Amino acid sequence: MLSTTQQRKAAKSYVLAALEDAGLSRNDDDGRAFHARFEAHFPQLFDLFATLYGAHESCLDQLAQLIVLAQTSWRDRADDLKTLDAAREATPDWFQSNQMLGAFCYVDRYAGNLAGLKEHVPYFQELGITYLHLMPLFDCPKENSDGGYAVSSYREVRADLGTMADLRALAKDLREAGISLVVDFVFNHTSNEHEWAQKAAAGDPEYSDYYWIFNDRRMPDAFERTVREVFPDDHPGAFIQMEDGRWIWSTFHSFQWDLNYSNPAVFCAMAGEMLALANQGVDLIRMDAVAFIWKRLGTTCESQPEAHLLLRAFNAVCRIAAPSLLFKSEAIVHPDEVVSYIDPEECPISYNPLLMALSWEALATRKVELIDQAITRRQPINADCAWVNYVRSHDDIGWTFADEDAAELDILGFDHRRFLNSFYTNQFEGSFARGVPFQYNPKTGDCRVCGTTASLTGVEAGDAGGIDRMILLYGIAFSAGGIPLLSLGDEVGQLNDDAYKQNPGQAKDQRWVGRPLRPDVLYAQRFDPETNAGQIFARMKQLIEARRAAPGLAGNAIRPFPTDNPHVLGYVRSGDGQEVCILANFADDAQEVAADQFLETPPRMTDLITGESYHVRTGVTLAAHQILWLSLAV
Ligand code: GLC
Ligand code: GLC
Repeated sequence: MLSTTQQRKAAKSYVLAALEDAGLSRNDDDGRAFHARFEAHFPQLFDLFATLYGAHESCLDQLAQLIVLAQTSWRDRADDLKTLDAAREATPDWFQSNQMLGAFCYVDRYAGNLAGLKEHVPYFQELGITYLHLMPLFDCPKENSDGGYAVSSYREVRADLGTMADLRALAKDLREAGISLVVDFVFNHTSNEHEWAQKAAAGDPEYSDYYWIFNDRRMPDAFERTVREVFPDDHPGAFIQMEDGRWIWSTFHSFQWDLNYSNPAVFCAMAGEMLALANQGVDLIRMDAVAFIWKRLGTTCESQPEAHLLLRAFNAVCRIAAPSLLFKSEAIVHPDEVVSYIDPEECPISYNPLLMALSWEALATRKVELIDQAITRRQPINADCAWVNYVRSHDDIGWTFADEDAAELDILGFDHRRFLNSFYTNQFEGSFARGVPFQYNPKTGDCRVCGTTASLTGVEAGDAGGIDRMILLYGIAFSAGGIPLLSLGDEVGQLNDDAYKQNPGQAKDQRWVGRPLRPDVLYAQRFDPETNAGQIFARMKQLIEARRAAPGLAGNAIRPFPTDNPHVLGYVRSGDGQEVCILANFADDAQEVAADQFLETPPRMTDLITGESYHVRTGVTLAAHQILWLSLAV
């Protein structure tokens, strides 16, 4: 039996021989740069590969092919991207700056196509955006593609949006405008129209092994005993029947087939797709549905230890061949699981679904105990990583708080979620929200909520507090650390859009209510203070500019600030010699934070948002839904 060191050494010789066979020289600049990275990261990649795939007879061959692919990809990488690689390596904390502002949109819905999107770059710059997430834009099934999350080819842009060359050109334009391009890496599944899927459907054994396919119901039944139903409206359980009678794993829609990562060929093929994406000039990839990528019988098949190993392995491949590419995790799961992916060697960046959900929770209950507990307990993360703090995404709002946390506050998770769902879908008397229920599961009572920020905060209902609530939520997302993320269109108060009901491919997916077309009319009103759009835009700009000017908001350092008032959330952000004390009133009336709470703060502080000055030693009164970013007066 060889020791690990001996195995590594043997594997390395094998891989080096494969590189030689492939005619990849070590004696030019590209070759030397590649080899330096290979030396640094191969040991880790080998260990991961051996753990994940050691039992496969093809393990070593796959690893050798992977490294050949990595070097080929590195050689293909454009010079400006290599320059970016070096720049990012010199400033690894670039994404922690308070200058960072994220935004996302659908290319077709916001701008028609990639050429149209280019026209909006000056606006993005004017707004201060430095990170732009374009929703899935690759080839996908025509009618229903889960908004592009069913990818048919990772190498082709959807024809109506443009071409791969357009995407590369856009990435370059954005980079020159100081904006990083973010796209999804939908790597848990492909569409049923992907070439691999079609071969699997035709019975090809090699490609059948790319997916989880069983001849009869025995294994599907066994797995389904412990996995949850993500889209119960689409199909029960986790499997769907194929035309030839076999059963295939589809966690999401029946046309999204889960890839089988226990097969090393799948890992290598997807690593190739990832590197191809990186070479288009993508800065960050959003790792879609990370929790689902490894399946183990008898478990929930979510967040298995191997899911982490796979992310580390993908990451090691990037460090070798596309070093500046960063991963952002999309794990909308229990908070313990969410943080488990946040690691410089897995995903240094992650959505913060808990803070998002609990901001909405506090708006509904007018109480801050749950969000306050989450800030104390669950907000701190590795200093080299960053949350993406958002008010809403393109998806539903799921109430992902931990039941055990809630129980400490005498809140029953199940009942509380039921209340929140009825509140946000306007089934609760007096609610200001106009949301739509999503994926109600009668077996479990689970449900989620869809809608735009303006519709959920009361702007749509004409509630007098609607705009203040929007600013309150964005004021938290923009000050709580990491990268704030704006849903483009929210800055002018876009409302729910029912048009999806007329579209056969969308009608059954209520998330489309919150994915309106670019609201041209509202954008045209954005400088008119008489309009909602104008008022929202002016106040969002205020938040954006205040954040850009506040170094204390960079990074992640956060601590609670006790307000001794159940309606007022308090936390302190600090960095670069500046401390900012954030106070947020979730009540419908004015609330006081008493003088006693400010014994340790400077006596006079300025609200960074409005510039107003406060003599805090006499206490601070916040108007209904007001948010203050208080800092030492200068
Ligand atoms: C992610 C996406 C969501 C999609 C799912 C399946 O959760 O955000 O829109 O339905 O993955 O790919
Ligand atoms: C579920 C999944 C999440 C996905 C969402 C889409 O909540 O856990 O990953 O984004 O469904 O609606």
